[in-house]
Amino acid sequence: MIKNISPLSFVELSRKNLINNIKQFKSLTKIGTKFIVVIKGNAYGHGQNFMVQILEPYTDYFQIDSVEELRILRKVSNKEAFLFGFVQKIDLLNALSLGCILTVFSIEQLTEINKVAEKLKIRQEIHVSVDAYLGREGFLLSELPKLFQEIRKCKNIKFSGIYAHFANIEDTRLSEQSFERTTNLTHAHKQINEYKRALELAEKFGFKNLQTHISSTSGILAYEKTKGIHGLVRLGIGTYGLWPSKYLKLTYKNSDLDLKPVLSWKTKVAQVKTLPKGNTIGYGLTYKTKKETRIAIIPQGYADGVDRGLSNKGEVLIRGTKCRILGRVSMNMFVVDVSHLPKIKVEDEVVILGSQGEKKITAEGIAAKIGTINYEITTRISALLPRVVV
Ligand SMILES: Cc1ncc(COP(=O)(O)O)c(C=O)c1O
Repeated sequence: MIKNISPLSFVELSRKNLINNIKQFKSLTKIGTKFIVVIKGNAYGHGQNFMVQILEPYTDYFQIDSVEELRILRKVSNKEAFLFGFVQKIDLLNALSLGCILTVFSIEQLTEINKVAEKLKIRQEIHVSVDAYLGREGFLLSELPKLFQEIRKCKNIKFSGIYAHFANIEDTRLSEQSFERTTNLTHAHKQINEYKRALELAEKFGFKNLQTHISSTSGILAYEKTKGIHGLVRLGIGTYGLWPSKYLKLTYKNSDLDLKPVLSWKTKVAQVKTLPKGNTIGYGLTYKTKKETRIAIIPQGYADGVDRGLSNKGEVLIRGTKCRILGRVSMNMFVVDVSHLPKIKVEDEVVILGSQGEKKITAEGIAAKIGTINYEITTRISALLPRVVV
């Protein structure tokens, strides 16, 4: 096979920025706090194992969501890993054999895991998920006594931790209309109290020295840093140099943290041409040129993760300038206006996300244009695009 050393379109990953980010978070937490780095969703679109190989010496655990992600992880790393997603019965044998700490959110799951562990003659480590006003997976407080009784009966289960997850600690201080800072952490406090009650209950049932965790990136900043008492934190989006919310960015940027985005997304101009006035562009005839217009064809589309919502809205960088998307984004290409670039050539570099010269296109900026969050923008970049670590 011919190795393509210079792919047409690719995701560039900065090792330096990745290491900078994790070191910064480590300096924010209390000494001895253990880190779980979240690599689900193809490491938020960055490329799971590219990230794993760099992050391995800097983390205590990885966090994945599925057996498939665990299988991919085990190709390059034996680092301890938490599997947070649901594992169907038929996959349990694989999950336990590959080695992971399973999270449990139903008694049925617990008993199935116990059976498989018995077959394998192992004690399978589990963490219990508490739904402390998250309103998602996990045991409600009222369900915990029954669970704890069941755990006592499961001889092949090692119950080593109990955790919860914040619902809106990242943006709770924002008022609806603006980015003014308010001090409303009511829901987070309610969650913390409920989680504390769950821990007390576990203790009453005789489960001592459990590992505890509630904070992801936003919790590390807004809670763990000042009041946190938990031995573990789950660092997701911050690892990749992205902020969980605008509020946290406004509050902590520079004073505590200088996060640096790890990912850039690049391609090259595929064709340049001039269309006359009144010419429509692309599917659905959604853009008609108002004057003679020089256009460039960009060889990436929604199959690669360029959201179709960016049709007639998005921008890319070419020759250090912003170039507006004209017409609809199609599966493998889209068109931009380059009328202001008389010297543009085929194969000029195009930055879809990242910097070029003084100009920058951020995941937050793209997200704002299509009404979503930065998490979704990077996570949906195609796993098929080559990753290049620099
Ligand atoms: C249970 C759990 N822990 C940790 C994370 C990581 O969150 P973040 O990327 O905001 O750090 C997530 C994100 O979806 C999650 O669901």
